[in-house]
Amino acid sequence: MEPPPLLPTLLLHLLLSTTAVSATAPLPTTPSPTSSPTPPNSTTSPSSPSSSTLDPKQLRALQSLNIPTSKDPCTNPSILPPNTTRCDSSKPFRHLLSLRLINCSDDVALSFTALKSLSTLQSLQFLNCPIAPIRFPADLVASLHSFTCINSLRRLTGVWLARLQNLTDLTVSNVQVNASGPFVILGNLKKLRSVTISHASLTGSIPKHMNLNLTHIDFSGNKLRGKIPSSLTLLENLETLNLSSNSINGEIPNSFGDLISLKNVSLSSNSLSGAIPESISAIPDLVHLDLSSNQLNGTIPKFLSDMKGLKHLNLANNEFHGVVPFNASFISRLQVFKISGNSNLCYNHSVLSSKLQLGISPCDKHGLPMSPPPAKGDDSSADGSTNSDYDDSDEDDQKQDRQHGPNKVVLGVAIALSSLVFLVIFLVLLSKCCR
Ligand SMILES: *[C@@H]1O[C@H](CO)[C@@H](O)[C@H](O)[C@H]1NC(C)=O
Ligand SMILES: *[C@@H]1O[C@H](CO)[C@@H](O)[C@H](O)[C@H]1NC(C)=O
Ligand SMILES: *[C@@H]1O[C@H](CO)[C@@H](O)[C@H](O)[C@H]1NC(C)=O
Ligand SMILES: *[C@@H]1O[C@H](CO)[C@@H](O)[C@H](O)[C@H]1NC(C)=O
Ligand SMILES: *[C@@H]1O[C@H](CO)[C@@H](O)[C@H](O)[C@H]1NC(C)=O
Ligand SMILES: *[C@@H]1O[C@H](CO)[C@@H](O)[C@H](O)[C@H]1NC(C)=O
Ligand SMILES: *[C@@H]1O[C@H](CO)[C@@H](O)[C@H](O)[C@H]1NC(C)=O
Ligand SMILES: *[C@@H]1O[C@H](CO)[C@@H](O)[C@H](O)[C@H]1NC(C)=O
Ligand SMILES: *[C@@H]1O[C@H](CO)[C@@H](O)[C@H](O)[C@H]1NC(C)=O
Ligand SMILES: *[C@@H]1O[C@H](CO)[C@@H](O)[C@H](O)[C@H]1NC(C)=O
Ligand SMILES: *[C@@H]1O[C@H](CO)[C@@H](O)[C@H](O)[C@H]1NC(C)=O
Repeated sequence: MEPPPLLPTLLLHLLLSTTAVSATAPLPTTPSPTSSPTPPNSTTSPSSPSSSTLDPKQLRALQSLNIPTSKDPCTNPSILPPNTTRCDSSKPFRHLLSLRLINCSDDVALSFTALKSLSTLQSLQFLNCPIAPIRFPADLVASLHSFTCINSLRRLTGVWLARLQNLTDLTVSNVQVNASGPFVILGNLKKLRSVTISHASLTGSIPKHMNLNLTHIDFSGNKLRGKIPSSLTLLENLETLNLSSNSINGEIPNSFGDLISLKNVSLSSNSLSGAIPESISAIPDLVHLDLSSNQLNGTIPKFLSDMKGLKHLNLANNEFHGVVPFNASFISRLQVFKISGNSNLCYNHSVLSSKLQLGISPCDKHGLPMSPPPAKGDDSSADGSTNSDYDDSDEDDQKQDRQHGPNKVVLGVAIALSSLVFLVIFLVLLSKCCR
């Protein structure tokens, strides 16, 4: 009586539902197993150093890092991925100024000796090189201006990064950084101009004191808490600020408009509340403003439509209310405009066409949303969740308690339920046909 195909089908369904759920989890960029710096041609050392103008010590160091040196990497950059190395022009031997390691093979290990002989490097980049970090020699520390580590070096500590005191540029992404807060790092790097520490499980709060010459700050996708300190608005050279996907709360400082150099800012996917500060209208060159997925409230300020350079405006998934103060010509000028997921917000249908599919209701004559809100127009709904913001939250592995967290659960449950229904139908059909 027991139908044989039942068990495999059940397994298949379970498998399908689990893979579908796990597919919504962030996918860390896995380093390819095929190591990119292709294995050196057989004509490598010891004959080639004689024809090379690169310092032999540095050549040996490159070889120890599995970097092909069959030809001189200073004069034949084409044998390597573009811009992997850059050299000075000193004589008799040239020295490396920058080095990029990409897709390292498993057997690459950093050695202190190799790094010591590479102490002329001003720029060092690791991309997809999950090798073990070691303490950098003091000479290399003194020389480095730019350090990039993306999905590499396994795990770093704030103290390790804080030693790199001559850096002007620091980029760490998709690497676990164990530190009590960004200040451990930023407080020591006095020359820093640009800092990215993203998707690094960084804890703590935004530092109250930062180098006033900073032009770029990206702390997105971490576990930062607390308020945005109003002292942040002293950074009048700041062009990019990305604090998205953290747990920052409180209000946007009233002095936010003091950031007069700002071009791109994202505060999305935090727990910010209160209104959009009026001072933002004083930022002359703002291009990209993303405040989505917070609990911001109040009305949407009309002055945003007077910001001539604005191209990207995302106010979705907040608690704004009232009538959208924009006309169609402003909205069509933008590349991105999102306001869905604000259940008390509405648009004046004699000003804006429903064809714009804004994902909010038209207003009644009192300026209140006509209910119910429009059905799925642009995959958005009024309950504060839109698919359109998944691109931000997908990478957000740290926070299960966030707005988008439940959606994955709902999805999982839906898939599980549908497979169950499928199974029942299948069983019924089976029992009918086998009768
Ligand atoms: C590194 O690996 C990635 C993914 O496997 C690949 O797309 C990329 O082209 C590789 N880069 C280089 C320089 O080989
Ligand atoms: C290896 O070296 C030989 C001799 O110099 C050369 O002809 C050949 O093209 C090289 N192969 C690669 C893959 O570089
Ligand atoms: C290589 O470097 C040159 C000069 O610094 C730069 O213009 C170019 O965009 C770089 N190319 C890549 C692929 O990074
Ligand atoms: C930074 O560079 C200067 C000179 O360029 C050097 O004197 C100093 O020791 C370096 N700092 C560190 C921490 O290595
Ligand atoms: C950093 O790592 C140490 C040891 O692994 C651990 O005890 C400590 O709690 C970590 N600190 C943070 C802030 O995660
Ligand atoms: C900021 O930059 C200016 C020149 O670009 C320099 O003179 C000044 O020392 C820098 N200040 C800090 C705190 O690094
Ligand atoms: C902020 O960072 C997130 C994730 O790292 C990225 O998707 C987004 O484009 C960034 N936004 C801005 C304005 O730089
Ligand atoms: C907006 O949010 C702030 C902070 O949560 C609250 O104090 C205020 O009453 C709210 N205003 C409105 C109009 O809901
Ligand atoms: C700034 O935002 C614009 C418009 O969204 C985008 O094209 C540009 O790449 C962003 N620049 C940076 C540095 O994030
Ligand atoms: C649309 O709004 C902009 C900015 O407020 C304004 O300059 C423009 O004149 C308006 N256009 C129309 C057709 O009302
Ligand atoms: C909608 O726009 C029309 C024409 O501009 C205006 O007369 C009307 O008062 C507006 N309605 C609301 C609710 O703002």
